[in-house]
Amino acid sequence: MSDLILPGLIDVHTHLRVPGGEHKEDFATGTAAALAGGFTLILGMPNTTPPLSTPDALAAARHTAAQTIRCDVGLFAGASPSQLPALAACAPQAAALKIYLNDTYGSLRVDDVPTLRACFRDWPRHKLIAMHAEKQSVAVGIGLAAAYQRPVHFCHISRREEIELIADAKMAGLPVTCEVTPHHLFLDAADFARLGPLADMRPVLGAPEDVAALWQHLGDTIDCIATDHAPHTLAEKWSPQPPPGVAGLETALPLLLTAVQQGRLALSRLIELMHTNPRRIFALPAQPDTWVEVDAEAQWTIQNEGMQSKCGWTPFAGMTVSGRIRRVTLRGQLVYDEGVVLAPPGSGKLIPTVNR
Ligand code: NCD
Ligand code: ZN
Ligand code: ZN
Ligand code: ZN
Repeated sequence: MSDLILPGLIDVHTHLRVPGGEHKEDFATGTAAALAGGFTLILGMPNTTPPLSTPDALAAARHTAAQTIRCDVGLFAGASPSQLPALAACAPQAAALKIYLNDTYGSLRVDDVPTLRACFRDWPRHKLIAMHAEKQSVAVGIGLAAAYQRPVHFCHISRREEIELIADAKMAGLPVTCEVTPHHLFLDAADFARLGPLADMRPVLGAPEDVAALWQHLGDTIDCIATDHAPHTLAEKWSPQPPPGVAGLETALPLLLTAVQQGRLALSRLIELMHTNPRRIFALPAQPDTWVEVDAEAQWTIQNEGMQSKCGWTPFAGMTVSGRIRRVTLRGQLVYDEGVVLAPPGSGKLIPTVNR
C-alpha cells in the first residue's frame, strides 16, 4: 500500500556519463535509476569525455538524450578556459553553467581569474551559475556573487566552515544558494575506514561535527538536497587509482524519509528541499500530473542487487531504511511500478525544450 503522495522530485546534480563514460551509466539507465528513486526531473553534469563545453558537444549529448531519457533531463554547460569564446553560445542548450573550482573527477577546472570574470560577464543572467567549491573556494564564489550581483549556487556543501560562511552571506543579502548530498548527511569519515574507495568522493566525507552542522542548517541555510549521483564501476573503485564518486539516485528519498520517521526532518521541509526549491532556484518548468507514491513505514535493507543504475552498487548497502517508493506517475503516465521501470527510452523531455 502507499500512504504518502509526493510531488515528482527534482535532482539538480547527477552524472549521466554521456559521452565517454557509458560503461558507468547512460541516459537510459541513469533516468531509470532516477524514476526508481522518485525523481522525475534531473540535471546532468558536464564533466563528460569530451566535456559539455561547446555548442556541438551539447547538441550531440542532447541528440542522444532525446532518444534515450525516461524522465525529464536538463544538461549543464561546463566552463573551460580553453573554450571560453564558445561559452555564451552554449546557453540556449543548457539548463545552467557549472564551474569546477577544485580538483575532482574529469578534466574541467577553472583556477584563473580571467576565466571566472569571463563566465560572470558572458553567461546570460537568466541562467544560473553553479559551482563545485570547497573550503576557501566558497568565499571566491560568494565574492563573485557580490561583485556581479547575480545568483551563485554551491554544489555539495559538506563542511561546517562552508555552511557557516554561506549562512553569513545570506544574512548579508547576497544571492547565494546551496545543496547538500545524502552521503554527507548520513556518512562521515569513519565510514571511509569501513568502505575504503567505496566511500571516496569529492568533497570527501566530513567529521561528525561537519555532519552535525549540516543537519543544524537543514532547516534554514540549506536550499536543496541533491544526490551528486556519480556512478563508477566496482572494478574502477577497487583499482589502484579509484575515481571519486558514489551513486545516489535510488537511495536519497528512502534515507530522507527515514529521517522524517525519526523526527529529524519535517516532511514539508523534505518537499521544499527536493522539489520546490530546486525548481525555483533553477527556474525549471512545472511537470503537470506528476507524483510519487510512497509507503512511508515500509522497512527494507538497501542492497546492491536490483539497482537500476548501471554501476550496480551503493555505499549504503546494508543500511535499513523506512520508506519505499511504490509508483511514479509522470504527466499522467505510470512510469515506475513496484520495482519495474515502465517509461520507455525517449519518453522524457529535454530542458530547455526549445532553445532559449
Ligand atoms: C563526481 C564524478 O564522479 O563525476 N565525483 C565526485 O566525487 N563527486 C565529480 C563531482 O561531482 O565533483
Ligand atoms: Zn563536484
Ligand atoms: Zn557531481
Ligand atoms: Zn503504509
